[in-house]
Amino acid sequence: MTRADVNDIRAYLRTLEPVRSVPTENKFPWPLDHRLSMIGWNGLFFEPGEFKPDPKQSAEWSRGAYLVEGLGHCGACHSPKNILGATKTSEAYQGSEIQNWFAPNLTGNRRSGLGSWSAEDIVAFLKTGHNARTTAYGPMGEVVRESTSKMTDQDLKAIATFLKALPASTSDTPDAPDRNVMATGGAIYRDVCSACHQLGGEGVKGIFPSLRGDAVVQSDQPLTLLRIILNGGRAASPSNHPSSLTMPSFDWKLSDDQVAALATYVRNEWGNRAGPVSASDVSDLRGKIQSVTSDY
Ligand code: HEC
Ligand code: HEC
Repeated sequence: MTRADVNDIRAYLRTLEPVRSVPTENKFPWPLDHRLSMIGWNGLFFEPGEFKPDPKQSAEWSRGAYLVEGLGHCGACHSPKNILGATKTSEAYQGSEIQNWFAPNLTGNRRSGLGSWSAEDIVAFLKTGHNARTTAYGPMGEVVRESTSKMTDQDLKAIATFLKALPASTSDTPDAPDRNVMATGGAIYRDVCSACHQLGGEGVKGIFPSLRGDAVVQSDQPLTLLRIILNGGRAASPSNHPSSLTMPSFDWKLSDDQVAALATYVRNEWGNRAGPVSASDVSDLRGKIQSVTSDY
């Protein structure tokens, strides 16, 4: 961060009312319970210094880089981590698991990333939690509500410029899934999903998102897709764009095998392509997330 921004934050914090608080007892396992171990970690992964704009890039790109890599902390969720919890710089922004969600690929990959998004799509999503393609869910809802919805349009455009310039990650095209699984999944889809998302997966503009070409559906890891099927969709509803649209939950209705076949189907129908989902992926996730009863 720039020195001026750090000073401004300090000045703001000084205006807050002091509170008395007792720090929570440290329950980390060895060696994480030793603050000194941070010295080693910093030696390996921390680069001291202030952000310097890249003279080869536009001022708008540099502003975007400053926000995304610095205060926006987007890589904290969207970049894969190594075993010590540091970002794998060679795979930055290519998507990562977080709190049993999958924060998708933000590079120009057309299937699982933002390759088919315009800069305007990104700005609308970060400003309101919605755009013509998708909605912000789970931890991203919080990011939009508490952070990006409060940014200026100029800063959001700068973020979009930086993200659109990220080179597309390369990913292998998974093999076509088992035909029987596709047939089973397709039958479930027609039965329980198609009334809203339509038989061709195209959704209804402004109401039901398209599942065709959708990055949430085709992410490397299917966590977000499975959570939405099990728990339903609860859109972020920032005060500048309140929303009452929700998707019902299906965890009470569909077995692990059924959810796996259905997820495999939507990941591979209508020109979509992504790895198959197994029943154990579904049961693992069910064990980790709270089930919600639906009034659907
Ligand atoms: C606390 C974790 C977290 C942080 C921090 C975070 N994200 Fe996300 N993001 C997620 C998760 C989880 C999703 C998947 C759920 C969804 O689609 O809304 C997501 C989804 C997205 C999407 C939608 C992608 C798609 O293909 O549907 C975009 C764009 C995005 N994030 C951009 C950003 C930007 C830019 C920042 C930094 C300003 C950021 N995120 C910071 C967790 C995070
Ligand atoms: C009653 C209508 C309805 C039904 C039935 C329904 N959905 Fe949804 N779905 C929605 C709505 C509305 C959203 C957007 C949620 C939001 O904005 O909070 C959504 C969002 C989604 C998303 C996230 C897409 C994105 O990128 O934002 C996926 C994936 C999805 N649904 C899959 C399914 C599947 C699979 C089924 C069948 C089990 C299904 N839906 C059944 C209404 C429905």
